[in-house]
Amino acid sequence: MPLKSFLSIKRKANLKIGLIPTMGALHEGHLILIRNSLSICDVTVVSIFVNPTQFNNAEDFKKYPKTLSEDIELLENEGVDLLFNPDNSEMYQQPSQLNFQFERIGSILEGKFRPGHFSGVGLVVSKLFNIIRPHVAFFGQKDLQQVAVIKKLNEELLFGLEIQTIATVREANGLALSSRNKRLSKSHKALAPILYKTMQEAKTKLLSGESIEKTISSSKKSILSQGSSIKLEYFEIVDSNELTPVKEISEHKEISICVAAHFGEVRLIDNLFLFSR
Ligand code: PAJ
Repeated sequence: MPLKSFLSIKRKANLKIGLIPTMGALHEGHLILIRNSLSICDVTVVSIFVNPTQFNNAEDFKKYPKTLSEDIELLENEGVDLLFNPDNSEMYQQPSQLNFQFERIGSILEGKFRPGHFSGVGLVVSKLFNIIRPHVAFFGQKDLQQVAVIKKLNEELLFGLEIQTIATVREANGLALSSRNKRLSKSHKALAPILYKTMQEAKTKLLSGESIEKTISSSKKSILSQGSSIKLEYFEIVDSNELTPVKEISEHKEISICVAAHFGEVRLIDNLFLFSR
């Protein structure tokens, strides 16, 4: 049965449809999003599409891990109702003439270091929302700025969806699960937990009254001291919703520590809330 007819029958039967957009190479982080959907929605749709327009680095796109047969097995085991795995021509019928510009929120942190990235995310997520027309869409807090961008998209383009954000799944050593971890060398995989460790130390320092400036500076030093093959892009203390740098810590604000660094040719990002939500 064609996808649209299947979904339209479910919609007419008043069933709640949940969508988890992914780029595949699925891991436990993706599975937590999926399980949340399975528990609150009647129909769970997972999309797997490595979206070319959100990659600002051709090599990163080419080398993005692809494990489709394992992914399908995982999805079957979880009891997912539908996998949407379009090819490029289905998502982009012609070279796209459309660009999204997310003003302030899209021009800092990831937006600054990955020009065009959020335009690509905005494009593909809008297309997925239009094709699947879910009631709820699930996104990981691991990509905090992506969540903020998608919330804006949902509000401003009147998609009217419920956006659910799910906490980051980590390895026991603190490393946030990511499809890109598969591309880390053995030595970089051993070094990468430094990101979480440093964010935790920064959190402790900030909560015990150390200044933001001093904390950022010592955190950067401690990451860089791990080895010359680590290239730190940013270490920032920001408003968790606006992603703008904060000047002072106050219990009443939602504040996050955000970090991005290259380990060899693999770029990793992570973040940590200062006050638990
Ligand atoms: P991808 O990196 O495959 O991630 C898919 C979803 O899984 C995102 O919402 C991401 O935040 C979430 N996720 C990844 N690692 C996680 C972890 N360790 N814990 C919890 N959630 C995690 O993000 C994308 O794909 C793309 O940009 C996409 C939204 C699919 C648009 O192309």
